[in-house]
Amino acid sequence: MSDLTPLQKTLLDWFEENRRDLPWRKRYDPYEVWISEVILQQTQMDRGVQYIERFLERFPTMESLAEADEEEVLKLWEGLGYYARARNLLLAARQMVAEHGGTFPEDVQTARALPGVGRYTAGAVLSQAYNQEEPIVDANVERVLSRLFDVDAPIKSSQAQSFLWETARSLIPKGRAREFNQAIMEFGNLICGKKPSCMLCPLTEQCEAHYLGIVDHRPVPAERRPAVPVEVASGVLVHKGYIFIQKRPEDGVWPGLWEFPGGNVEKGETPAECVVREFMEELEWDVETAEKIAIIRHGYTTFKVTLSAFLLRFKDEHEGWPEPVLHAATEGQWVSFAELGKYTFPAGHRKLIDMIARDMRYAWFV
Ligand code: ADE
Repeated sequence: MSDLTPLQKTLLDWFEENRRDLPWRKRYDPYEVWISEVILQQTQMDRGVQYIERFLERFPTMESLAEADEEEVLKLWEGLGYYARARNLLLAARQMVAEHGGTFPEDVQTARALPGVGRYTAGAVLSQAYNQEEPIVDANVERVLSRLFDVDAPIKSSQAQSFLWETARSLIPKGRAREFNQAIMEFGNLICGKKPSCMLCPLTEQCEAHYLGIVDHRPVPAERRPAVPVEVASGVLVHKGYIFIQKRPEDGVWPGLWEFPGGNVEKGETPAECVVREFMEELEWDVETAEKIAIIRHGYTTFKVTLSAFLLRFKDEHEGWPEPVLHAATEGQWVSFAELGKYTFPAGHRKLIDMIARDMRYAWFV
C-alpha cells in the first residue's frame, strides 16, 4: 500500500495495533452496524456497548426487529433518551423488510430515504458494512480533523461542517473505507479525546493545532444557547396500593412514553397547587397532596427542569376504581410499584421511581 499518504498510513497502522473488540466489529453485518451506530450517536462507548449487546440479543435480525412491538423497543431504549431514534429504528426496519429484502440498502440515496437515516448513519453503515468510500463525521472525527487542520470556525457552523465532511471524504484511501473511518473515530476516542493524549499521539508532527500550541482550543465550541429553566410538578396517585400512570400522545414531547400526570407550574401557583390542577384538567379527578416525595433536577435538550413530585390521594372515598377522562394521554393504567419496571418513562420520572424504591417512607406500597 505504497500510495497511502503518511497521515493515512499512520492512522491505519495505529488502528491495526489499537482496535478494541466492539460488538459490530465481529462480522460487520449491516444490521448490527446500523443498530450500533444509532445507539452510539447519543451515548458514551462503555454504556453504549451494553445497550448494543442487549438490543442485538433481543432483536438479532432485521426481521425480528421489524416484527417487534414499539413498547418493547422503547423499553430497551430507556435511559438513552431521544426516543424518536428508537421509533425510527422500528419504522426503518419495517420498511427495509417490506421494500429492501430485509437488508440495509447499499445505495446512499436509498439509505437516506429511510426514517432517521441522515448522512452520518448512511456513511457509517455504507463504509463499515459495505466498505464504500462514504465519509463519517462524528464528535471524534470533529476533534481529530479540527486539530490536524486547525479549523478555527465554531465546530457546528456550516463553514466548519462542510470543510470536515469534504476533508473526511478526501482522506479515505481507495478500497479501505471500513478500516479508515473506524481508525479515525477510534483515534478520536482513545487518543485525540476531549483531554487529548498528545504524548502518545503518532500524528503530532502533522498536527497544526499541536504546532501552534492550541490543541486545547480546538475544536472551537459551538455557541451554546443558555439553558431555559422550567418548573414542573408531577403526582404519584396511590389508590389501594396501586399507582396511576398514563401514556403520552403520539405527538409532542416524549411521544408514546408513560408518565405520572402533571405539567408546568404556572405563574402565581405553587407546585402542589399545580399538580392538583393538572389532575383535574388531564383526568377530571379531584386529588389532594399527601406529601412531597422529592425535587428532581434534570436536563432535557436546552431545558433545565426542576420537577416537584408529590404523593397524591383521592379527595373523596372511592369503593372501586374511578374511571379517568383522558385529556392528555392515550391510555391510563393502575399498576403495582413492581410493574412500573415494565413501562418506559422519561429520565426524570425514572429517577423518581428509583428514589421511591430507596425511600423507607414508601415501603408500604413498594
Ligand atoms: N463511535 C461511534 N461509532 C464508532 C465506531 N464505529 N468506531 C469507534 N468509535 C465510534
